Amino acid sequence: MSKINAAITAVGAYVPEDILTNKMLEEMVETNDEWIVSRTGIKERRVLKDPSKGTSYLGIQACKNLIQKSGIDPKEIDLLIFATVTPDLPVASTAAYTATEIGATNAFSYDLQAACSSFLYGMSTAAAYIESGKYKKILVVGADKMSSIIDYTDRATCIIFGDGAGAALFEPNEEGLGLQDEILRSDGIGRAFLKIDAGGSLLPASAETVKNNQHYVYQDGKTVFKFAVSNMADVSEQIMRKNNLTGDDVNWLVPHQANKRIVDATAKRMKLDADKVLMNIQRYGNTTSATLPLLLNDFEQQLKKGDNVIFAAFGGGFTWGSIYLKWAYNTLHN
Ligand code: UT7
Repeated sequence: MSKINAAITAVGAYVPEDILTNKMLEEMVETNDEWIVSRTGIKERRVLKDPSKGTSYLGIQACKNLIQKSGIDPKEIDLLIFATVTPDLPVASTAAYTATEIGATNAFSYDLQAACSSFLYGMSTAAAYIESGKYKKILVVGADKMSSIIDYTDRATCIIFGDGAGAALFEPNEEGLGLQDEILRSDGIGRAFLKIDAGGSLLPASAETVKNNQHYVYQDGKTVFKFAVSNMADVSEQIMRKNNLTGDDVNWLVPHQANKRIVDATAKRMKLDADKVLMNIQRYGNTTSATLPLLLNDFEQQLKKGDNVIFAAFGGGFTWGSIYLKWAYNTLHN
């Protein structure tokens, strides 16, 4: 029997309609369009304004988009992994709610949280299940309503993050396509530099924590930037070396969209031409768990069967890693 790889066989995405531009942020905090564009590459981001909707709403729309494009019967899905740092509720699984809402009634499901690396880690988990032969159809959703945890008076964070969702379906492939290799890492030293202080078991919510703005994302940008640049570039270079890939062999880099300068530094270390680097940070900002599947959906038509794709991510924790995958299909529709 030939080896089973886990291939991505369909993708979908959703972003909310409301746009938050750099100009609008200029009215809210001491910043300007020129600074934001030159320091981050971001021009605008999306926000889910409806206060009655949580992250599941974004994820459900992305799944529905994937189901509609691929024609898959949701009842065939074995497992749904919901990668997010902004679950609808602290306890009840956002994945379970999403699976039920999309009609994946035969699936089991759970949330996965690894900050901005959540989707990357979810890819690894899905692939391990598929390669073992245990499950055949796994939906990995990456979605975040970052606007629910951002302080829009803090210019260090509010200019960066946006809301969005993407989803990818993983299925067995016996032609050698799909996930080939991975390098995943974490280092708890990062906890001091990118975090939400309150609302967890260490510092439960109280009137005091609300008063002190401790339920919002705090980021020491400079420190996170340094770690992100060196670690994301390191693992991306390592995975190429491990698999005897040169810059010419790699067709696409799918990098977490945290900051254009971090992506540029990674691409430079990989000796990749800029036209091989997928980017949409200018339109969405950093959507945390959604950046990778949003890129796959936006650039789906350019990805060709057999293409060598390197994924890379870095996030809070710290968590980071790189995945090498051979793309498994050509897009015929549209
Ligand atoms: O996705 C998870 C991982 N997260 C990341 O990877 C984010 C990593 N960090 C970053 O992307 C960058 O550090 C930021 C975009 C957050 C900040 O960019 P930076 O180039 O590191 O800026 P900085 O914090 O070093 O600040 C440079 C200057 C400072 O002024 P002085 O001290 O040089 O006079 C800041 O006060 O820019 C000032 N500044 C701003 N100016 C206008 C900081 N934030 C802003 C702002 N608008 N929003």
